[in-house]
Amino acid sequence: MKNIILIGFMGVGKGSVAREVSLHSEYIAIDTDDLIESMENKKIKNIFADNGEEYFRQLEKNIAKWLEKSVKNTLISTGGGFYKQDNLKKIGIIVLLDSPFDAIIARIKKHPNAVKKLKKRPLLKDLEKAKILYDERRPAYLKLANIVINVTEKSPQDCAKELLKKVKKHV
Ligand code: S3P
Repeated sequence: MKNIILIGFMGVGKGSVAREVSLHSEYIAIDTDDLIESMENKKIKNIFADNGEEYFRQLEKNIAKWLEKSVKNTLISTGGGFYKQDNLKKIGIIVLLDSPFDAIIARIKKHPNAVKKLKKRPLLKDLEKAKILYDERRPAYLKLANIVINVTEKSPQDCAKELLKKVKKHV
């Protein structure tokens, strides 16, 4: 079992899909944002506000080095900017959760905790800027991915099933 790294834009559902995969497989799920929050004992939005984005990116770099060296057989969900780490391919199989920008925003907005979900993501504060970021990142996500899953209008359960099937074929 190789590591699986889930990449994709903010709000696409990496956390929900990771939970489903770990429920239906032997993979234990970890999340780079959760690791950073517990390392710093601080919420991501406060790290951005107090220390700045560059500091946060350095923490992501440290996590990426640790993942490569020390983590095996694990499902790793990542923050939307984690794909920039240059050792991603060495960490594991890269799975992109893909969806159009408008569908991602619609997905967040219909969630019962929509306000919280938007607030906790500093880079989603301004939707016009977020769309620019999405357009910049999507080609890079697609280029990196070993496996692409279109998650639009699909439940996390169905995405998880599709992921496990495709990973099995890939290895
Ligand atoms: C970020 C995505 C966030 C979090 C941070 C920065 C990004 O994670 O890592 O706010 O640069 O896209 P999610 O993708 O889980 O929202």
